[in-house]
Amino acid sequence: MDKTDYEKSVNFSKIPRHIAIIMDGNGRWANRKFMPRTMGHKAGMEALHRTVETCARIKVAFLSVYAFSTENWKRPPEEVNYLMQLLVEYIDKEIDELHRNNIKIMITGDYAALPVQCVKGVEKALDRTKNNTGMILNIALNYGSRREIVRAVRIIAEKSLNNEINPADIDEDLIGSLLYTQNIPDPDLLIRTAGEMRISNFMLWQVAYTELFVTPVMWPDFDRSILMQAIWNYQQRERRFGGLK
Ligand code: IPE
Ligand code: IPE
Ligand code: MG
Repeated sequence: MDKTDYEKSVNFSKIPRHIAIIMDGNGRWANRKFMPRTMGHKAGMEALHRTVETCARIKVAFLSVYAFSTENWKRPPEEVNYLMQLLVEYIDKEIDELHRNNIKIMITGDYAALPVQCVKGVEKALDRTKNNTGMILNIALNYGSRREIVRAVRIIAEKSLNNEINPADIDEDLIGSLLYTQNIPDPDLLIRTAGEMRISNFMLWQVAYTELFVTPVMWPDFDRSILMQAIWNYQQRERRFGGLK
């Protein structure tokens, strides 16, 4: 199908409720253009701007974006610092428009461990948008799914030691309620850009029955037409959740 045809074929009354995106390929995008990796991250920020705008417009209820993983600290400090700076810049630049569009910011991950400027920026954004009723923009920041699960297990162990929980009462709902995503549904569609066929520690629990879509397109080049391709693809799938048709 031609790039522009997906848009025509998408059923806009059946848009996935929760779309999650692993925004990958900023560095490779920059490399190909003989630019420093940081320029890729900067261009990635613009792709995020476009994507948030489109998703809000087509009435996606929840958009989760993987911005920084617990493993990304392994990168050179200059790159990590740049990403942190970019986060502050993103919030400063976008907050008015996000708020005007009734978007509510949510953070998953241990953002309190980020540099103080980032923590301040994040808290400002959370507070400013807390009463908004439109799309939830969930930014995964210093997020790792294994760490998220460990955190839940610790809470359960402590409650159990204090006799607040009986081990027999531990079930999927309890664990789900102790994850960062406690208040939002599992993703319906997970998009990964830049072609890698892996999850990279993103929402392992939550994506149990999520439909996956991987595109070779690098994140800075992500646009409405690729989003439409992903949604169209999703709409062709038959979700069975282990059952029969
Ligand atoms: C994604 O792009 C952004 C972050 C992980 C923060 P990368 O920086 O991983 O780009 P590649 O994968 O090296 O191309
Ligand atoms: C996943 O991308 C993390 C984010 C997009 C924030 P990575 O580039 O860190 O993943 P790997 O290292 O290729 O698995
Ligand atoms: Mg990468």
